[in-house]
Amino acid sequence: MAAELVNVNEFQELARQALPKMYYDFYSGGAEDQHTLRENVEAFHRIIIRPRILVDVRRIDMSTTILGYHTSAPIMIAPTAMHKLAHPEGEVATARAAAACNTIMALSFTSTCTVEEVASSCNAIRFFQLYVYKRRDISALMVQRAEKNGFKAIILTVDTPRLGRREADIKNKMIVPQLKNLEGLLLAEVVSEKGSNLEAFASQTQDASLCWKDIAWLKSITNLPILIKGVLTREDAIKSLEVGVAGIVVSNHGARQLDYVPASITALEEVVLAVQGKIPILFDGGVRRGTDIFKALALGAQAILIGRPIIYGLAAKGEYGVRRVIEMLKDELELTMALSGCCTLKDISRSHVRTEHERRQ
Ligand code: FNR
Repeated sequence: MAAELVNVNEFQELARQALPKMYYDFYSGGAEDQHTLRENVEAFHRIIIRPRILVDVRRIDMSTTILGYHTSAPIMIAPTAMHKLAHPEGEVATARAAAACNTIMALSFTSTCTVEEVASSCNAIRFFQLYVYKRRDISALMVQRAEKNGFKAIILTVDTPRLGRREADIKNKMIVPQLKNLEGLLLAEVVSEKGSNLEAFASQTQDASLCWKDIAWLKSITNLPILIKGVLTREDAIKSLEVGVAGIVVSNHGARQLDYVPASITALEEVVLAVQGKIPILFDGGVRRGTDIFKALALGAQAILIGRPIIYGLAAKGEYGVRRVIEMLKDELELTMALSGCCTLKDISRSHVRTEHERRQ
């Protein structure tokens, strides 16, 4: 009998065994030297928790509301592309796991199941991640379909005017498969029957001219709240406030875009301080432990999105694997809260962590 899995990191090796090398490399890899990829995880290790003792912690409540939607914990599923490369049930399995765990799933624009399939598969609370394509009509249509199918928010990803240079994908000649979500929308020259080279696909589709003024366009075509994903600086946090979005996702795209940007957790507080509580701030990048989630909450995030561990769970064990990943992170967060003397999320304060910078002073 296989040994019991005890943390989400252990799903990575199972995923590596389950997947063709091309797909495993696509999921696990980052840009260029992969400096930021390592930092996303390691920067968490340099933040220390300052627990409080002698608190009655018999009852721990991790529940919260995200844009008004109640969830069992401040943990969400990040939008990640092409789940059918990990498991035949694809994003439908991921959504069912989100529903079972009473958490929110963000569906990627480049998903291998349609918004309609995901919507009808279960009652998970769903947000829709949007890329703005040169063909604005395609992006507008996808927003309409998401809205019509009960998605509750648009997460506009803004860090991808061009694709980051992922060298493993170049070596492997990674192919974009048929993207069911965009079926019938893309021209034959963009996606052939055999699929398309990743970089060529991105450069033919993504609109590199996307600017701050285009948020007004997006607002004009949807009533859904809009979150901007990919903010790493105070300057862009302030601009996000100026254009009036409903929230920010501090993210470096899982270190797949520009290498040598800060680890997401290192950028979080700068954004939090700039926003001053005016809109919610979500966070992703390198979260592998309940202690990581606790640290991000202490630094001001309202909720945390999980990327690769979800895909590894899906690749290893389908819907059950995704559920286990979320449950493990929830269990670890609950234990971290109990051992830190925090009974509710409101009890987690800035003084519960000490950053590397503070320790040096
Ligand atoms: C991503 N990410 C991503 N983001 C997005 O806005 N749209 C997308 O389609 C994808 N696709 C995607 C594929 C894969 C394989 C990965 C690993 C990531 C980025 C994702 O939403 C998130 O920002 C990171 O994955 C968070 O980092 P961790 O949790 O993977 O370390």
